[in-house]
Amino acid sequence: MDDLKQVAAEVKGCKLCGLAGTRKNAVPGEGPANAQIMLIGEGPGFHEDQQGRPFVGPSGEFLNELLASAGFKRSEVFIANVVKCRPPGNRDPMPEEISACSGYLDRQIALINPQVIVTLGRYSMARWFPRDKISAIHGRARRIDGRIVVAMFHPAAALHQPALRQAIEDDFRRLKDIVAEAQKQQEEKKPSKPVAEDGGAAGGAEQLSLF
Ligand code: URA
Ligand code: SF4
Repeated sequence: MDDLKQVAAEVKGCKLCGLAGTRKNAVPGEGPANAQIMLIGEGPGFHEDQQGRPFVGPSGEFLNELLASAGFKRSEVFIANVVKCRPPGNRDPMPEEISACSGYLDRQIALINPQVIVTLGRYSMARWFPRDKISAIHGRARRIDGRIVVAMFHPAAALHQPALRQAIEDDFRRLKDIVAEAQKQQEEKKPSKPVAEDGGAAGGAEQLSLF
């Protein structure tokens, strides 16, 4: 049976794309298998590559603060990235690297089955909202494939840009309510009642009424 340890072991030995040749450590991701929330960043930076762990540099410190402001401990969420190996010089990941690596993230999402996914930055956002602009949709809870997905700015970008920093701080503060709402909807859904479709299903993403 597939499990997160199996995924991590495969990631550590993976040579499916060119990033295998320049990494020091692959960064599979970390967190509990039963996490309600999954945060998905872009890819490891310098510190993450050194340590083999996600979000451990300055943007990781900021992420820890953001989580705390929402009332969550880092240890209760699962943190992963779109690509598991560092792009040299922190360049953007290339489309072929993202697609080579996507099976690992697919498996992590399937195994964890989180109620809420938070995308951090445009590469993870593009998986669920390929045609949207982050400035338009950040912080908004959408129901997709039976879970809630919320796009947020990338902490590394927000750290040094006051307007984005304000936005990501506001968005994280509302995460607790979004998770509570997701939980409530999950419970309401249990007695196999048809869920009301209130229009706007064209993009396959329905925005939660409360947010
Ligand atoms: N930025 C990311 O997108 N991911 C990390 O793990 C660290 C920095
Ligand atoms: Fe494999 Fe992903 Fe690392 Fe590429 S980035 S080598 S696909 S684990």
